[in-house]
Amino acid sequence: MGDRARTPTLTALLCLGLCRGPCDQVQAGAAPKPSIWADPGPMVSRGSPMTIWCQGSLQADVYHLYKDRVSKPLDTEAPQNSSKKAGFSIESMSTHTAGVYQCAYHSRRKGWSERSDPLLLVVTGVYPAPSLSAHPSHVVTSGGNVSLSCSSEVTGDTFYLLKEGGAGPPRQMQSRTFRGRWQAVFSVGPMNASHGGTYRCYYNSSSYPHTWSYPSNPLHLEVTGVYREPSLSAQPGSLVFSGDNLTLQCRSGAGFDRFALTKDEGLTSPQHLHGQHSPYFPLGHVSHTHGGQYRCYSGHNLSHAWSAPSDPLDILIVGMYEKPSISAQPGPSVSWGEKVILQCRSEISLDRFHLSKEGSPAAPQLLRLQDAAAPFQASFTIGPVTSNHEGNYTCYSSDSTFPYLLSLPSDTLELLVSAPSPQDYTVENLIRMGGAALILVVLGILLFQARDSPGRLEDAARSRGYDPTSWRRKYI
Ligand SMILES: *[C@@H]1O[C@H](CO)[C@@H](O)[C@H](O)[C@H]1NC(C)=O
Ligand SMILES: *[C@@H]1O[C@H](CO)[C@@H](O)[C@H](O)[C@H]1NC(C)=O
Ligand SMILES: *[C@@H]1O[C@H](CO)[C@@H](O)[C@H](O)[C@H]1NC(C)=O
Ligand SMILES: *[C@@H]1O[C@H](CO)[C@@H](O)[C@H](O)[C@H]1NC(C)=O
Ligand SMILES: *[C@@H]1O[C@H](CO)[C@@H](O)[C@H](O)[C@H]1NC(C)=O
Ligand SMILES: *[C@@H]1O[C@H](CO)[C@@H](O)[C@H](O)[C@H]1NC(C)=O
Ligand SMILES: *[C@@H]1O[C@H](CO)[C@@H](O)[C@H](O)[C@H]1NC(C)=O
Repeated sequence: MGDRARTPTLTALLCLGLCRGPCDQVQAGAAPKPSIWADPGPMVSRGSPMTIWCQGSLQADVYHLYKDRVSKPLDTEAPQNSSKKAGFSIESMSTHTAGVYQCAYHSRRKGWSERSDPLLLVVTGVYPAPSLSAHPSHVVTSGGNVSLSCSSEVTGDTFYLLKEGGAGPPRQMQSRTFRGRWQAVFSVGPMNASHGGTYRCYYNSSSYPHTWSYPSNPLHLEVTGVYREPSLSAQPGSLVFSGDNLTLQCRSGAGFDRFALTKDEGLTSPQHLHGQHSPYFPLGHVSHTHGGQYRCYSGHNLSHAWSAPSDPLDILIVGMYEKPSISAQPGPSVSWGEKVILQCRSEISLDRFHLSKEGSPAAPQLLRLQDAAAPFQASFTIGPVTSNHEGNYTCYSSDSTFPYLLSLPSDTLELLVSAPSPQDYTVENLIRMGGAALILVVLGILLFQARDSPGRLEDAARSRGYDPTSWRRKYI
């Protein structure tokens, strides 16, 4: 058809008049079966043009197209440009052009070929779009399962689930009514990288055969845990003042060019992985809304497979409440090996306390008050101390209702660790040596006495309930 377009009716009439005989008596087996396919594909939206191609042999002089197993051909075409195929164009796909197509060809030497395999041509966009959603989330861990639910307000007969670029026929499922809607639930999993991608669903209905709804919204299924986890860090740090310019960096192995950052994800809140090409996430000047728990993922360009999540990074926003006070018990100078208690005390009613050491990459230590009654203070026990504990400490207070919002920092407390003096060693060693000498002397005396009068010793042992032989074996 194409520029030589004819209506199917006209074609049918032409065919009846011009090529009676071959149309009605297709001889099977003489020439090899042709192949048939649809361009751009077997699913075409209503109103779009498309072409059905039939490929037979170079000797073919005419091609016939059949629809819905009717014996009369719907259309006739000559081979194109003396190639071994013919194209049947449909200018505008409609509910009437949907159906099952076959083709055959004639060659002067071999007569009519047998008919091709059937090609099912579906027209989409006939009924309102259904909606597609994923439960519990469209971000799924490798090895996990997910349910994709397709539902429609309009009576659907069968629901179809298609993956973009997916091979094989669409998955299909009979619809059921649920809360006044028609729906089908497809379970996908256990997940691996190849399940990631874009899914859409459709339904057919009893109005016309081979007619489908508009496609649902696209659903992007992301699979995590396919690669090793990256690491997430914060500049200038994870403790920031409201107003500071904060940047998060996601570090991963070579070869990754997509990075996603999530905040406060949990089982209840849906996850979203919005990939970007840079591992830097500039959050700009932070406010209290930036406080929270962050994780990052790494992946490859145009792929729906992601790494495992990084370890969580807590971003704490400083400066929300008055500063607490910090003190050391018994004092800020501690001897090596001793313990010290750093006390953080708030004037206002706050129940969480954080202890941070200047220059330490570790997250601040956290203590939570069990007893709500005043005083609002917590004691951090440090030690037994080594020179590593020396440094400047600051504490913060917070409210467990807003766990990522901290008070202003307390004043700084400098902890000094004094090494034990060499004198202490000498005295200790002298005492130890003295003790050892004393024990040797006592043992010597015992030995001497035992040799001298074993009977007396054994008698003494027996009188205390011991077996003298075992007693002797043990000590001598
Ligand atoms: C036939 O071949 C010519 C030259 O190769 C090409 O330009 C033309 O588009 C072809 N016609 C069709 C219908 O494919
Ligand atoms: C996923 O489903 C399969 C069966 O369909 C089950 O064997 C497997 O344990 C499920 N995995 C998880 C993580 O629930
Ligand atoms: C993913 O799982 C499917 C079965 O659900 C399996 O056919 C396929 O080979 C798996 N792909 C990979 C990359 O493991
Ligand atoms: C919808 O599709 C299913 C499966 O392909 C088929 O069995 C059913 O007959 C179709 N319904 C209509 C009304 O065409
Ligand atoms: C924040 O810091 C980054 C680099 O750390 C810089 O490129 C950016 O311009 C800064 N933004 C503002 C608003 O100061
Ligand atoms: C991602 O892939 C697309 C298409 O292959 C390409 O145009 C784009 O430059 C790629 N982006 C990066 C960052 O590699
Ligand atoms: C603690 O802070 C004081 C004052 O800023 C500084 O002089 C001192 O070197 C710091 N101590 C350590 C161990 O960093």
